[in-house]
Amino acid sequence: MLSERTRGSLLKEIDLTKAQFLHLVDRARRLKHADDTGNAVPRLAGRNIALVFEKSSTRTRCAFEVAAHKEGAHVTYLDPSGSHLGKDESVPDTARVLGRMFDGIEFRGFSQNIVEQLAEYAGVPVWNGLTDQWHPTQMLADILTMTEHHDGPIEEIVYCYVGDGRNNVARSLLVTGALLGMDVRIVTPRELWPPEDVVEIAEHLAIESGARILLTDSVSDGVTDADFVYTDVWVSMGESDEQWASRVGLLTPYRVTASVMKLTGKPDSKFMHCLPSIHDRSTDAGQRVFAQFGLDGAEVTDEVFESAGSVVFDQAENRLHTIRAVLVAALGG
Ligand code: CP
Ligand code: NVA
Repeated sequence: MLSERTRGSLLKEIDLTKAQFLHLVDRARRLKHADDTGNAVPRLAGRNIALVFEKSSTRTRCAFEVAAHKEGAHVTYLDPSGSHLGKDESVPDTARVLGRMFDGIEFRGFSQNIVEQLAEYAGVPVWNGLTDQWHPTQMLADILTMTEHHDGPIEEIVYCYVGDGRNNVARSLLVTGALLGMDVRIVTPRELWPPEDVVEIAEHLAIESGARILLTDSVSDGVTDADFVYTDVWVSMGESDEQWASRVGLLTPYRVTASVMKLTGKPDSKFMHCLPSIHDRSTDAGQRVFAQFGLDGAEVTDEVFESAGSVVFDQAENRLHTIRAVLVAALGG
């Protein structure tokens, strides 16, 4: 079950009702545990899916590819330089071409407007694999992960995002918790507060769902009682490297350390991250952060990232099961 209004597309979390969102999560859970085997015939046999990427990806691309293959579909990957899209062919023209050839289109890129236009013109379902504004398939995986690590009703889960409050993941976490009636906190310096229109969407949803929403610049206020502490990179894809100096200044007090995890007051609290993460010096990005700012890791310490309470690779695996659920719901009946 995907939104009828968007005809099988998933462009942003708020396209879904709470019931539709949780239905996808439950379907993913059953697919993960192989108790949703369907017929002997794969559910997407003979289907063709376009994967259009303006930005890099490991998890999202691989999840779409493996999910499609498991269900018998074929995929065509268009890399950031591999099509005319946005350069010498407009989005509506590209959408109408792809819609004549493919049964569904995944898009990852910069502007939300592009994925909305693809959906408007393609005539086939379109799935948002991340834009500057929203990351809905990540949210499905994250909620599945939370429910795997928390006993009891979803409405009782308390999660706290600490970091850049304006980025796609922060915005998506805010509206998702609001949609599902959860206790969601965004901890971020005032300079990086989520946009007012997103806060309004969340507050509006919370009236209906009973969600508890807290926006604060106080780490201790935000993480107290949290079952899950979530962070993301300090500079997102598409932002200039020049942002690093100001972000390090603003966000170093917000890095997730063992002390921050202790402030939850819950010994079993879990650490979450959509990945990729700068948590040590083992990558080029980690080396640069160390050379320029003397930080070993950025948004999270290696100690927390590698701790027993870290569920980041469960989240990564759950991208596969949830994206498979989206594909089956939209194309497989
Ligand atoms: N979390 C996530 O979207 O990962 P990728 O950038 O690797 O797709
Ligand atoms: N906020 C990050 C998320 C990556 C999955 C980015 O957009 O780069």
